Amino acid sequence: MNKFATSVFALGAVALLGGCAGMQSGGGDNPFATTAFQTILKKDFSSKGQAKVSRLKQTDATQYECSKYAYLGKPMPETVSKGIESKALASVVYPADGRYLGDWKEGLKIASDGKGMQWNDKPGTPNGGNCLACHQVVPNDPSQGDIGPSLIGYGKLRGSSQAILKYTWARIYDSASFNACSFMPPFGAHRILTEQQMKDVMALLLDPNSPVNK
Ligand code: HEC
Repeated sequence: MNKFATSVFALGAVALLGGCAGMQSGGGDNPFATTAFQTILKKDFSSKGQAKVSRLKQTDATQYECSKYAYLGKPMPETVSKGIESKALASVVYPADGRYLGDWKEGLKIASDGKGMQWNDKPGTPNGGNCLACHQVVPNDPSQGDIGPSLIGYGKLRGSSQAILKYTWARIYDSASFNACSFMPPFGAHRILTEQQMKDVMALLLDPNSPVNK
């Protein structure tokens, strides 16, 4: 794990821990939702810059269900995971102009950039995708992570049929469409990347001239 991946993980842990705020007052079947845990959260976290404590609140059922089963150490029932996946997939917004591929050079910058949405980032400036924190994307880059599968040769191996374009877009838009509790951030669903940035990252994976496919 490199330093970017570690920070992604730290953020993920906060999201997971904070996952229960406001869902159930007594805790119910989610131990994170107890009043005692909420008190600890309130005591130990404070808002700084754009990173507000409100981020610790769960905003959807996916976060709630995923933190619940992760904590209990039990497998999520298939009815729950399939429900989350089909809802996520149905919410994917595909490019309005039907064009999936932007500029791979821009895509490489976005994939390497781990900035954005942190307290010391300027609000309103574009976010990075931080793909290299979790994936091997280009050969011989020392910073690449191994939390996700290697994406080297992605386009060469998969081609660029309409089905692959749609799958890859949906994967980047909201990875929960295929894996309910995916570690991969929902770049489109949570508006981390813009539509154009997603197109550029798509080109990085699928353009035959991209270093990914050389
Ligand atoms: C925090 C780690 C993390 C980050 C950041 C991340 N991914 Fe992933 N990604 C994963 C994991 C883990 C998987 C494996 C599937 C799963 O667990 O859902 C995955 C799967 C994928 C897949 C599907 C691979 C396949 O074989 O079908 C694609 C494509 C992908 N990621 C692209 C990206 C791109 C592009 C970015 C940056 C915009 C990115 N990922 C950022 C963790 C991450």
